Amino acid sequence: QQARIIVDKTFRIAEVDKRIYGSFIEHLGRAVYGGIYEKEHPTADSRGFRNDVKQLIQELGVPIIRYPGGNFVSGYNWEDGVGPVEQRPRKLELAWRTTEPNWVGTNEFAAWAKEIGSEVMMAVNLGTRGVDEARNLIEYCNHPGGSQWSDLRRQHGFEQPHRIKTWCLGNEMDGPWQIGQKTPAEYGRLAYETAKAMRLVDPDIELVSCGSSGSSMPTFPEWEAITLDYTYEVADFVSLHQYYGNRDNDTPNYLARTMDMDHFIRTVIATCDYIKAKKRSKKTMYLSFDEWNVWYHSNDADSRIDPWGIAPPQLEDIYNFEDALLVGSMLITFLKHADRVKMACLAQLVNVIAPIMTEEGGRVWRQTIYYPYLHASRFGRGVSLNPIIESPVYDAKDYTDVPYLDSAVVYDEENETLTLFAVNRHLEDSLALTCDVRGFEGYGVAEHIVLQSDDLKAVNSADQERVKPHSGGDASLQDGYVQALIPKASWNVIRLA
Ligand code: AHR
Repeated sequence: QQARIIVDKTFRIAEVDKRIYGSFIEHLGRAVYGGIYEKEHPTADSRGFRNDVKQLIQELGVPIIRYPGGNFVSGYNWEDGVGPVEQRPRKLELAWRTTEPNWVGTNEFAAWAKEIGSEVMMAVNLGTRGVDEARNLIEYCNHPGGSQWSDLRRQHGFEQPHRIKTWCLGNEMDGPWQIGQKTPAEYGRLAYETAKAMRLVDPDIELVSCGSSGSSMPTFPEWEAITLDYTYEVADFVSLHQYYGNRDNDTPNYLARTMDMDHFIRTVIATCDYIKAKKRSKKTMYLSFDEWNVWYHSNDADSRIDPWGIAPPQLEDIYNFEDALLVGSMLITFLKHADRVKMACLAQLVNVIAPIMTEEGGRVWRQTIYYPYLHASRFGRGVSLNPIIESPVYDAKDYTDVPYLDSAVVYDEENETLTLFAVNRHLEDSLALTCDVRGFEGYGVAEHIVLQSDDLKAVNSADQERVKPHSGGDASLQDGYVQALIPKASWNVIRLA
């Protein structure tokens, strides 16, 4: 099978916002307790955060981390998580039906994020709470001092404000599972008033209006149309969330799920632009895809976990090789929409549907999906170029004309490097790829990284890394054309410099 790509410096989509390589830590399962934080762990720092976990997060280069939820935030009283730890209450956490000890809260998380070089994307509770709580929280976090809540932060040992720039106006408020679910009109009004008050405290913040919890929600895209009618002028982003799974073990169909994701993004853009036109607005709404991943492996195990434990092993999906291919394709989809998708958070980061796993008191290890995320974060910074792709196609259960080759290209002007990301969705045949890069004179192939496995269901563990990339791809460049064999079912990173 043959595939062709033409790419040129002039085919610019947009500068990639590095925040599309964001992630997410929720007070859920072992993400915080036993994940990033484990006081008794041999690598724990003076605050109780694991250094071995920090190292892997830094290797991934995660520019922004969403916190503290997720569904958790809709029942969270942030005041429970600040001040002397021994005085913090133990609370019944209703979203995941656990006990929340509040050993980690806003200050500890903000300090940890700063140390590893990540920004915080903070969510406010618009489920059980509203304007008052949000304005107090932002005063506590961002106001320098001389007022009730900012002085309380200083009293709690944090003299300098955290200066958190990005804030989510609630989480998945369209979902029936959400504590304090709202109708679109209820949410729109509340989010608008909350945004107004938050901006009065700190005019420099960016705000994310809640979009749908997924493309299959019955209220999508009416939810966006109604809520944005209220929040369009006060919000900078609208959120999208989407998880996929291969429950019926139909891999060709599973690997085509990014066709749905692409359609989801296009529909949200269209809805934003409709509201823009309706309001005669000059402002463009951007997209924050702040929850995305594969999530299904752990569903059955979760239904057997007893309620009210502290940090039980919830949502611990063990990812296989085909999941890594889909994750790669999802990252490619963001790059194709770099002009509108400006933030995205892989949900989540540690233990809970995560690329990084930990053993209690022991090792930390990389799941299969760690690798496409690492490569995109590391090499996918610069300008996203629009590759003209010619690829053979196939029909799957839910999609027709699915290209076997899925690809995105990023040009780093400053360092003069060009990176081509490619997934071959074909499960039996490799693709002989020719890529016209005649506009990039003097370039050569620096590296051709390949992630492949003969076993689509191969997984990693602390003991064995069965799925890991190698740099043995055969890409070559001659007379302005890259020739490369893209192996069957593989993720590829071809770097030209
Ligand atoms: O990431 C896990 C959960 O998925 C989040 O808490 C929620 O927002 C979504 O439904």
